[in-house]
Amino acid sequence: MRHTMIEKNQSSLQSLDTLFIKTYGCQMNEYDSSRMADLMKQAYGMRLVNAPEDADVILMNTCSVREKAEEKVYSELGRYRKLKEQRPELIIGVGGCVGQQEGERIQKRAPYVDAVFGPQTYHKLPEMVNEIRRDRHKVSITDMPEIEKFDHLPAPSAHGLSGYVTIMEGCDKFCTFCVVPYTRGPELSRSVTSILDESRQLLEHGILDISLLGQNVNGYRGLGPDGEEWDFTMLLYAVSTLPGLKRLRFSTSHPMEMTPELAVAFGEISNLMPYLHLPVQSGSDRLLKAMHRGHNRDEYFAIIDSLRVQRPDLALSSDFIVGYPGETDDDFEQTLDLARRVQYDTAFCFKYSPRPGTPASKSEDDVPESVKDERLQRLLTLMRQQTHQAMQNKIGKTESVMIEKQGRNPGDLEGRTEDFKIVHFAGQARLIGQIMPVTITEAYGQSLRGKLVLTEDAE
Ligand code: SAH
Ligand code: SF4
Ligand code: F3S
Repeated sequence: MRHTMIEKNQSSLQSLDTLFIKTYGCQMNEYDSSRMADLMKQAYGMRLVNAPEDADVILMNTCSVREKAEEKVYSELGRYRKLKEQRPELIIGVGGCVGQQEGERIQKRAPYVDAVFGPQTYHKLPEMVNEIRRDRHKVSITDMPEIEKFDHLPAPSAHGLSGYVTIMEGCDKFCTFCVVPYTRGPELSRSVTSILDESRQLLEHGILDISLLGQNVNGYRGLGPDGEEWDFTMLLYAVSTLPGLKRLRFSTSHPMEMTPELAVAFGEISNLMPYLHLPVQSGSDRLLKAMHRGHNRDEYFAIIDSLRVQRPDLALSSDFIVGYPGETDDDFEQTLDLARRVQYDTAFCFKYSPRPGTPASKSEDDVPESVKDERLQRLLTLMRQQTHQAMQNKIGKTESVMIEKQGRNPGDLEGRTEDFKIVHFAGQARLIGQIMPVTITEAYGQSLRGKLVLTEDAE
């Protein structure tokens, strides 16, 4: 009924042709932004534009995981305010994790914001926009409904060769430093059937590479087609058999729920890529405990060993926090030691910042900024060395490369290895969209250079 109402009113009201979405934060937000675009296309025929100046509707999909997140949102909103002054009919919405946390406070501080919503309510966007246009009043929807949004989303659109499918929402882990359990709500899993259907739709659009997303994918507990509860490994095997799927990945995993079956899956599933993001945050047992991570360093090493037994070529990445309350020099040395032992391909390193509402924010943020800076630099230096080593190790190897687009230099193509490294090499544009062998000849800081292995296809 609501839908008909939207259509009826459309002709007499202002145009809703163009949409601009500014996305911050994790891959789950990127997924959500693309679904918002799908929704607005379905409801109003809106198309995405690249500049806020050209948009009838501007949406911000925000992240609040680290410091100054709210400030970034308000300063970006300041830009949009000027546009609204010139075009009062412009609709501005703030969604995502800051939207969820701040709620109506956003509209108090920035009264030109028409809509505020959270990660679990964006499926109501067409209704919200309709209400705003009709009555010119503000809306804010930040309740946490049961996992209903996926039932309201249209079929996904797809661009390029890689696609995302969110398999579960929220987080129940409550690491002491983290806002995610408060912004995204409890862990709720989609059904196996809905995940398989959405993945099939992406594959029909020419996607070759699918990433299954969640804050803790290995906490997945979804309803299977047999009426039983399926865990993440069962889901992974099911998705891996979909026709046309060449590359399967997932993110993020929590070490606490890595099961032996999941390690075995890395050995058994041939299209499961040898790349795993397994954040550890700290190498100090004392801090892992304080952070409420639920495992110690030896357990983490044991998981890495079990994975490498299955996939010796597995590329690992992690997140680290330096300067957590009470972190001593010795704690930090333990972190460096852990990283040296594991040998990562890449890592994301952050300075701790207290986040509103989290348990850690009640402790004093007592590591001086200068010490945080120094530790961050030392960790980054180590990580750069490890990335450099991982890149060097590729020289002389022949890698299977998914060719994504033309490179920056004329005549060059750009693609990804199975462990997600960027490779440039000479080749013809008609090879884009194929997976071909490339022998690596040179390694740079962030990318590789190679030579296409001449097969019949490539000649
Ligand atoms: N679900 C993922 C991480 C989500 S947040 C996991 O459990 O691994 C992404 C990263 O941001 C975290 O891994 C952590 O390293 C960092 N982070 C989260 N809260 C932070 C804070 N308060 N200060 C600094 N870094 C933080
Ligand atoms: Fe945050 Fe911890 Fe949940 Fe990751 S597992 S989202 S770090 S609370
Ligand atoms: Fe940020 Fe929310 Fe993702 S806080 S990291 S956008 S879950």
